Amino acid sequence: MLLLPLVLLADLIPGADNKHGHEHAFQGPTSFHVIQISSFVNNTYAQNQVSGWLEDLQIHGWDSDSGTAIFLKPWSKGNFSDVEVTELEEMCRVYMTGFIRIVQDRVSEFELTYPFEVQVIGGCELNSGETTISVLSTALGGEDFMSLQNNSCVPAAQGGPRAQRFCVLASEYQGLYNIVERLLSNTCPRFLLGVLDAGKAELQRQVKPEAWLSSGPPPLPGHLLLVCHVSGFYPKPVRVMWMRGEQEHPGTHQDDILPNADETWYLRVTLDVVAGEEANLNCRVKHSSLGGQDIVLHWEHPTSTTVIILAIILPTFILLICLALWYLRRRPRQPTFHFLPV
Ligand SMILES: *[C@@H]1O[C@H](CO)[C@@H](O)[C@H](O)[C@H]1NC(C)=O
Repeated sequence: MLLLPLVLLADLIPGADNKHGHEHAFQGPTSFHVIQISSFVNNTYAQNQVSGWLEDLQIHGWDSDSGTAIFLKPWSKGNFSDVEVTELEEMCRVYMTGFIRIVQDRVSEFELTYPFEVQVIGGCELNSGETTISVLSTALGGEDFMSLQNNSCVPAAQGGPRAQRFCVLASEYQGLYNIVERLLSNTCPRFLLGVLDAGKAELQRQVKPEAWLSSGPPPLPGHLLLVCHVSGFYPKPVRVMWMRGEQEHPGTHQDDILPNADETWYLRVTLDVVAGEEANLNCRVKHSSLGGQDIVLHWEHPTSTTVIILAIILPTFILLICLALWYLRRRPRQPTFHFLPV
């Protein structure tokens, strides 16, 4: 019966795994998935966290206290009717409490020890054309446990004998597979297409990045760390390269793309160069919002002491002299008395 929760979960909110990298005719996300994280603290206390995602964008939350879905976007229900949404919410409620109870009942059978975590991801992704790919997989204690492939339970190698036992147990419930199958291959794709359409103004928006350069802590004495910051772009795919002239520099290092608070993205791309070899380097940013007009920032020679003196101290000095002169000119003269001859 451990499978039932998985099945229900998958349906509740049609879910999908987020693999990107497929080329699609339109910009924006192409998959929906539901993530469930269940923390079993001790034999009386467990907690579920459930969320719905369009790739990296969360559109659903779950309020465990009231047992209701949280719709984070005005279009989070896609084209599902209120009746259908209510049914899914009810299913989710039943599933959540059922999942916890079923797992707790099987703790000794599966030789689990508190505390432990179960993670479930389920959903669907647009494939080329009209077809979709469905995904359902689970992890126990952060290790792959089992996944559903071609509508059958496949134990993960990391799951060991426990996962094999789980799949044997699950195979007795063929009826459940049919429910899961329907959720993954019918409900989820229908929801995905509807929600992509309902949210398209937001999902297909294009926001141009800003880019700037700075220097970071040198990795080695006599080296420079050149940092190219790119921020505020949407959608996520971006290409940022350090170039020497027209050639991409092989030493370019890209960090992870991080989220900004306003649902745009931030990326830092660094280059470690030997001091003195930074001539002719530039950072090039390619992004769909730029319409082919790449942003190119040229690295200026580093600010040496002389440059600092020239750039800051000299103007300050000149300003001070000007102020002094101005003050001297404005200062009221000493009163003088002229005695005119009568
Ligand atoms: C179980 O964990 C909860 C939350 O940490 C705690 O409040 C409770 O006292 C624990 N119960 C037992 C029986 O250990």
